[in-house]
Amino acid sequence: DPRPSAVDTYFKTHLHSADYHNTLETIHRDSLVAGLPDIACSAPQAKFLMLQARMCNAKRILEVGTLGGYSAAWFAMTSPQTKVTTIELDPHYAAVARQNLEKAGLSERVEILQGMGTTVLQGIREEVDRGEREKFDFAFIDANKQDNLAYFKAAMDVTRERAVIIVDNVVRDGKVASAEEAKRDDRVKRTRELIEGIGELEGVEATAIQTVGEKNYDGFLIALKN
Ligand code: DHB
Ligand code: MG
Repeated sequence: DPRPSAVDTYFKTHLHSADYHNTLETIHRDSLVAGLPDIACSAPQAKFLMLQARMCNAKRILEVGTLGGYSAAWFAMTSPQTKVTTIELDPHYAAVARQNLEKAGLSERVEILQGMGTTVLQGIREEVDRGEREKFDFAFIDANKQDNLAYFKAAMDVTRERAVIIVDNVVRDGKVASAEEAKRDDRVKRTRELIEGIGELEGVEATAIQTVGEKNYDGFLIALKN
């Protein structure tokens, strides 16, 4: 169906100013040239996330899953005071992200921590507990899908009260609603564990929104801490 892509193009043409557009499109293009997979958020999705962070007046943003730094660069646009901490397992992706953010003039606003998400988050939790790091206002989880519930729980621990936590790719072409798909695909199984796990967590209110667009049929989970 060509319509979702055509609509994204139309929205970008009229709603995305050239200054944002050129910086972000350069990062997207340079990431593909460096051999990274084309799985970053679309521009309208990334701008939507940045606007949510801006609505929260977020000054400290946590991201799990940097890829080439595309969404981190968008989050860096939240405000001149906003600092993004983003975690990436793959050393090549992290190096490409560093280069992209340097070229975009955003490296001062983005801290890239290379390592296993759960391990790096444990380190961040210890820094927060020791008072060496401020809690985050906003978190975006967009890494390997198998560890989503662990990432979500870690994000709960390192964010302040009333923080927002968003998780990407919770719909996966509608597969999330299928117990049969979960048997075939571990990522679907673990995404269902995320949804059902959050449903049972105290201290957080959540829902999920299905999306279409140039990135096909997927969706975001959004959670607000009490
Ligand atoms: C994949 C991962 C993503 O975060 C995404 O937004 C789309 C696809 C993937 O691993 O295939
Ligand atoms: Mg994603």
